[in-house]
Amino acid sequence: MASLSLRFSLLLTALLPLTAFTGVGGVTLPQTHADVYDYIVVGGGSAGSIVASRLSENRSVSVLLIEGGPSNEGVTNSIIPYIYPRLYGSTYDWNYTTVPQSGLNGRATPYLRGHILGGSSSINGMTLHRAPAADWDQIASFTGDLSFSWNNIIQYIQKNEAFKRPEGSRFDNTYDPAVHGFKGPIGSSMVEDDTWITEPTLTAAEEVGIPHSRDVNGGQPLGVSWQQFTVKDGARSSAATGYINKQDKVRSNLRVLLNSTVSRVLPRPGGNTTSGPLHFTTVEYTDGNGNTQTAVASREIIISTGVIATPGLLMRSGLGPRAQLQAAGITTLLDIPAVGQYLQDRCGLSAIWSVNNTDTDDDIDRNSTYFNELLQEWNNHRTGRLTQTGYRHILWARVPEDAPIFSTIEDPSSGPTCPHYEIYPTNKWAGTSPRPETGNFVTMSIFVSASNVRGSVTLDASNPMNPIIDPKYLGSDWDRYVMRTAVRRAAEYMSAPSWRRWNATPVFDPSILDNDGALDQWIQTNAIGGVHAVGSARMGPPNSPPGTDVVGPDFRVKGIRGLRIVDTSVFPFVMNAHTMGPTYIMAEKAADLIKRGL
Ligand SMILES: Cc1cc2nc3c(=O)[nH]c(=O)nc-3n(C[C@H](O)[C@H](O)[C@H](O)COP(=O)(O)OP(=O)(O)OC[C@H]3O[C@@H](n4cnc5c(N)ncnc54)[C@H](O)[C@@H]3O)c2cc1C
Ligand SMILES: *[C@@H]1O[C@H](CO)[C@@H](O)[C@H](O)[C@H]1NC(C)=O
Ligand SMILES: *[C@@H]1O[C@H](CO)[C@@H](O)[C@H](O)[C@H]1NC(C)=O
Ligand SMILES: *[C@@H]1O[C@H](CO)[C@@H](O)[C@H](O)[C@H]1NC(C)=O
Ligand SMILES: *[C@@H]1O[C@H](CO)[C@@H](O)[C@H](O)[C@H]1NC(C)=O
Ligand SMILES: *[C@@H]1O[C@H](CO)[C@@H](O)[C@H](O)[C@H]1NC(C)=O
Ligand SMILES: *[C@@H]1O[C@H](CO)[C@@H](O)[C@H](O)[C@H]1NC(C)=O
Repeated sequence: MASLSLRFSLLLTALLPLTAFTGVGGVTLPQTHADVYDYIVVGGGSAGSIVASRLSENRSVSVLLIEGGPSNEGVTNSIIPYIYPRLYGSTYDWNYTTVPQSGLNGRATPYLRGHILGGSSSINGMTLHRAPAADWDQIASFTGDLSFSWNNIIQYIQKNEAFKRPEGSRFDNTYDPAVHGFKGPIGSSMVEDDTWITEPTLTAAEEVGIPHSRDVNGGQPLGVSWQQFTVKDGARSSAATGYINKQDKVRSNLRVLLNSTVSRVLPRPGGNTTSGPLHFTTVEYTDGNGNTQTAVASREIIISTGVIATPGLLMRSGLGPRAQLQAAGITTLLDIPAVGQYLQDRCGLSAIWSVNNTDTDDDIDRNSTYFNELLQEWNNHRTGRLTQTGYRHILWARVPEDAPIFSTIEDPSSGPTCPHYEIYPTNKWAGTSPRPETGNFVTMSIFVSASNVRGSVTLDASNPMNPIIDPKYLGSDWDRYVMRTAVRRAAEYMSAPSWRRWNATPVFDPSILDNDGALDQWIQTNAIGGVHAVGSARMGPPNSPPGTDVVGPDFRVKGIRGLRIVDTSVFPFVMNAHTMGPTYIMAEKAADLIKRGL
């Protein structure tokens, strides 16, 4: 490594003054000769892995990627799709918790985030979405930058993805090749087996008037469609497996630091004495041995620590709402009220039905002999039930256009082609309460999508490494209305003839469906929050009033130099999608911009 850092230092044309200096908050840094790179990417997650990988494609550009968690390689629970929930609350999870949520009867919920190379893409459910075309067009219109429009971002989808076409004529109308990539780093596929649940899922949709959407990722997701997953040859494909694991072994200009938690980014020493905006050049981190280290970027630092960690990192670095920084004893370098504000998430819950089909996945979870047989099959051939997560189709829908709520509340969605909620049937008991010893189940996972609630991530004055997460789940009349509508629609769908043939019977008291108050109560007791938050360092138009957003359409932090943010925190509003795919698109787009010198 010594010769590597020497080479990086030599690559630097204009050497920066690397003397000891006083950081924000008055801490004197140890006098270290920092490693110097062209670019430093902070956070080796879904977005950061892509940015670091794309920038280092040019071998004369040096890139340091700093990740807080360990490697993804060899982590079985991450590799085998079916068992990914075993990663929750493990060493691969940051173990965040929300503050008590009044919309959830005062409960606090875990806020899962990947603490591993690949970030949340190494621990997530592998559902691949892009969001509706209308959402991207809305970002284009909000930021005033047409390059975010759907027609323009399709090139980044194609760059990112290697979609495996499903085999057989029954898949003829289940995807649209025009909106897929076939040679990108991220493998994607559909579940192709003949399990019983496909028939009732698709036929019941017809029976209750839910249209067929040819491709969930074609920009028009409304209806029922075949879901695509980031599963390649039976195993998880993530930002780590696709963009880093092979590359960091062959690219001498890409260095990946693991187990290294970044505490702050710092301006160039003496930067405030010259005129012009502060220039951020230095990254301070705690290495795997617990020692404080620094590294210097001669060109730029890209922050990709994700929607929860990014606002905290900015605030610890003196960039954020002044009052909060003051309370934590941090000197404000730039007062940016928007940092940590405008958080938006998608609240979810599980509603469960029992069925009399015995071919559900329930026995995988309660019969270890059966599980071990499947594990052996997976180990030998990378095939079988463990290559899946338990669901295969998804329904996106809207509140009816004539719903009375629209007389008092403006539709927060991006327009009539944009969903308000999603439901998807899983072939087993997938609730938070314990699975019964016997029986077979289908779980409807239900998410509010077009939320109009804004939460926040704020600084814990007593421990600035600890984010205070307040998504305000179900915190508006609209969100509660959408959730009630979605639960009732799920129940209507599950009582269609095709499900009745399997004796689908709710395991909850169906009388709650007849009464808003009772239904609200049940929802508040059962909802578990979401994992699709955005907005904590939101993007805005170039000329917006200072502090109302954090980055411009070029991903640069406004009002300072040397710092960009590329991760889920920049989306200006909730995406009607699971957020990994949209984040991949953003990261490919940002890397493209940086490489083109924009
Ligand atoms: C359990 C779970 C299931 C999900 N399921 C799906 C799904 O099926 N489909 C879907 O589309 N979306 C899903 N999501 C959401 C999606 O995965 C995320 O929105 C997306 O991956 C976030 O990307 P990101 O780059 O913003 O952050 P991340 O991918 O979380 O990356 C942030 C990275 O920064 C690192 N980091 C954080 N702080 C520091 C620090 N101080 N120093 C150094 N490194 C740091 C983290 O360890 C992490 O690697 C799920 C999320 C979770 C957690
Ligand atoms: C690669 O990077 C070098 C150094 O910054 C630059 O001069 C060159 O133009 C880049 N090459 C490409 C193909 O972008
Ligand atoms: C990172 O930490 C893990 C323990 O959590 C350890 O097994 C691994 O060797 C460390 N990796 C590096 C590169 O230090
Ligand atoms: C999360 O909690 C689990 C269980 O307490 C612990 O083993 C793990 O190390 C924690 N994760 C992190 C990143 O600290
Ligand atoms: C930077 O300079 C400005 C103007 O001289 C001053 O108001 C501000 O306090 C300085 N900031 C820091 C962190 O020294
Ligand atoms: C568990 O699975 C094994 C192997 O498939 C099967 O033989 C056995 O009958 C199952 N046990 C129960 C209790 O269902
Ligand atoms: C399942 O229940 C339905 C409805 O009660 C019944 O018609 C059907 O025969 C049952 N099927 C099985 C396999 O038990």
